[in-house]
Amino acid sequence: MSQNREQWGSKIGFILAASGSAVGIGNIWKYPSIAGENGGGAFTIVYLACILIVGLSIVVAEFVIGRKTQLSPVGAFEQLAPKTNWKWVGYLGVAAAFVILSFYGVVGGWILKYIVDSFSGGFIELSGNTKAAEATFNSFITSTLSPLIYQIIFMGLCIFVIIKGVKGGIEKWSKIMMPLIVVLLGALAIRGMTLDGGMAGISFLFNPRFEDLTASAIVLALGHSFFTVSLGMGTMITYGSYLNKKQNLVTSALWVIFLDTAIALLAGVAIFTTVFALGADPAQGPGLIFVILPSIFPQIAGGTVWATMFFVLLFMAALTSAISILEVVTAYFIDQKGWSRKKATVQFGGIITIVGVFCSLSLGAEVIDGNGQDVGHGINLTGFLGMSFFDFMDKLSAKYMLPIGGMLTAIFILKKWGLTNYMSELKIGMDKMDLSSLLVRALLTISASIVAFIIFNEIYFQITGKALIG
Ligand code: PHE
Repeated sequence: MSQNREQWGSKIGFILAASGSAVGIGNIWKYPSIAGENGGGAFTIVYLACILIVGLSIVVAEFVIGRKTQLSPVGAFEQLAPKTNWKWVGYLGVAAAFVILSFYGVVGGWILKYIVDSFSGGFIELSGNTKAAEATFNSFITSTLSPLIYQIIFMGLCIFVIIKGVKGGIEKWSKIMMPLIVVLLGALAIRGMTLDGGMAGISFLFNPRFEDLTASAIVLALGHSFFTVSLGMGTMITYGSYLNKKQNLVTSALWVIFLDTAIALLAGVAIFTTVFALGADPAQGPGLIFVILPSIFPQIAGGTVWATMFFVLLFMAALTSAISILEVVTAYFIDQKGWSRKKATVQFGGIITIVGVFCSLSLGAEVIDGNGQDVGHGINLTGFLGMSFFDFMDKLSAKYMLPIGGMLTAIFILKKWGLTNYMSELKIGMDKMDLSSLLVRALLTISASIVAFIIFNEIYFQITGKALIG
């Protein structure tokens, strides 16, 4: 354990940084779009249940491992289980960081471009015209150069924050951006609710229609609960490793989960009230943010300002998450290889950006113009995967890497490290709060079993074409 390891400056700083990691594109883009496609309220209920059962116990587990070892994932598993294969759970996390950040950085770039477009009044010509908004979005993401420029700027900002370190970079920027996200989103939600017909959006989001609740929506909700609270790749181990022994890890985890969920729901309210007030289609999937919103914002008073606010807050949410992903990789090279923070950040931030370039290019591999001609640049890296490289990286991380990492973390505590050791670290900083180890064991066991089943179901589906559920 190095003597001069960096630490958080304050309790609130740590909670804001960890919730900054959790609150991201997952909350504001993915959650509303999958809830919209999967029946709204019913999906929301399953999602909340998954977060409370599986999410909470694994966030606490990651914090405990990080604080105990004061190391990032690879070193942490190695210290708690020396000379075993458990360190591979840590390596899986570092690999997942590469995979996620490569496409996350591309989406971060799209958001920057949409800030520029909305601010310069570019959405006005898309007003009420979903087709035009869709064509604009598609032609942007499939073009060769301009998405790359925005992606590189986004990744540059990410590197800039991480280089400044834990307290002077991550904590400082999270303390500025997290409150701003809440304020901007709150204003957008109030604006949406006061639009004529906006309240229909709220009942869509919260009224459970169980006939819409398919088994595949349940699987989706579980996978999403890992992604949205940044679980399964050691982000929370890394952030927990910068803690001293004074924090109550259960209340910290509850705060992170609460903020993450509250912001996802608030984003749902802001988006669906506006969508319903203007009679747009709520089940647009991924196009909800980049296609539907640009076509409806110009129709409300002050639309340019509201649209710019929305994309600025989405950018801040994306940046605070992206830095937490890069920090996992950076911390690995600092802890295990003795590199300087600057060298680790620049080198690996750069490599991830290059992988991201291929994610972006894979979307424009094939572009059919109005005459049926393929005018794409043909860089179709993963034709054999049956999907673009971008989608492959997204699916690989959300469906496999994060759930498997989370499941192995729970199993590690139950089977290797031992509940007694785990509980004695967990209880430090908890003062009077009592926690039954039976409950902790039950929650970790339930979480590991649910995830194991879901992963098995997914692999079974990939092999046989039939799912056990879903
Ligand atoms: N939680 C982030 C989001 O919701 C994504 C993320 C996943 C961040 C894994 C870190 C690790 O967008």
